[in-house]
Amino acid sequence: MKHFLQETDFQASELPALFALAREQKRKRGRVSKVLAGQTWAMIFSKSSTRTRVSFETGIRELGGNPLFLNAHDIQLGRGESIEDTAKVLSRFVHGLIVRTFDHSDVERLAAAGTVPVINALTDFLHPCQIYADAFTMAERWSKGGNLVGALRGRKIAFLGDTACNMANSWILGANHFGMKISLAGPKKFAPTKELDALLAREGFAGGYQFTTDPFEAVRGADVVYTDVWVSMGKEAESRKRRRVLQPYAVTAKLFAAAKADALFMHCLPAHAGEEVEQAVLDNPRCVIFDEAENRLHMQKAILTRLNAARKG
Ligand code: CP
Ligand code: NVA
Repeated sequence: MKHFLQETDFQASELPALFALAREQKRKRGRVSKVLAGQTWAMIFSKSSTRTRVSFETGIRELGGNPLFLNAHDIQLGRGESIEDTAKVLSRFVHGLIVRTFDHSDVERLAAAGTVPVINALTDFLHPCQIYADAFTMAERWSKGGNLVGALRGRKIAFLGDTACNMANSWILGANHFGMKISLAGPKKFAPTKELDALLAREGFAGGYQFTTDPFEAVRGADVVYTDVWVSMGKEAESRKRRRVLQPYAVTAKLFAAAKADALFMHCLPAHAGEEVEQAVLDNPRCVIFDEAENRLHMQKAILTRLNAARKG
């Protein structure tokens, strides 16, 4: 069974066709083949969501299927039914699971115990759907209608702020997988974790990033300046401390100007103007945050299509 739990779950050789499918889905919006006709995909969410929930619900409907949104607290999982039993039971009813949760091991356990594809819709460790949509957004701009994945190769992304969060982890793994370079800048204690280093080593990307405490060093020569919220879901108790120590890593107009002259500004959203990014950067024409959001829909439809085809193949 093919799952999408981390960036490397699609092999490098599968990426060109996947990205081309996302481009085709985007062009044919609303007129794509109904590959999920008669199917129901359960969406188990333990955290809030705007983009992920709406793009998956809309995308599944556009592919002819039915999304079934389940707040994790409303099902027996929230009262202690095991992850394994939940996976086995839901596999008898639905054709796939889309899961937003805290522990990354939860999505791995659901995938191991169930008999349907599982998609990671964000864990504390990784957010692969966002990275694929972001990479597609970059490729659309740089490929000029040509080879999408090839257009990413050798490009540099600079990630600022909470460099140990799910988005930073996912971008480190994703950049290596897409043949990009990545530099991160944040306080020392927010440096990428041992857990991330172990994952990179397992995937053959040991040491595949640069980390510095100097934000200007990180953005030098960057094609993309990326940031994320300073207080991820589940970290609310640390809000005050995080806002204080991450302040020097805010993406200001001055910092953005230190990247390449044609660099893009990207953010997975939700953004907090005046915290991790200045309003002037959000207003810059090279800020592509809403293209990233829109592309969640097109890329996820491509991912759903491929996982469904792999099940039949
Ligand atoms: N970027 C993203 O995943 O947004 P949501 O939390 O709104 O789904
Ligand atoms: N790092 C953020 C990403 C939100 C899409 C969080 O986990 O809350």
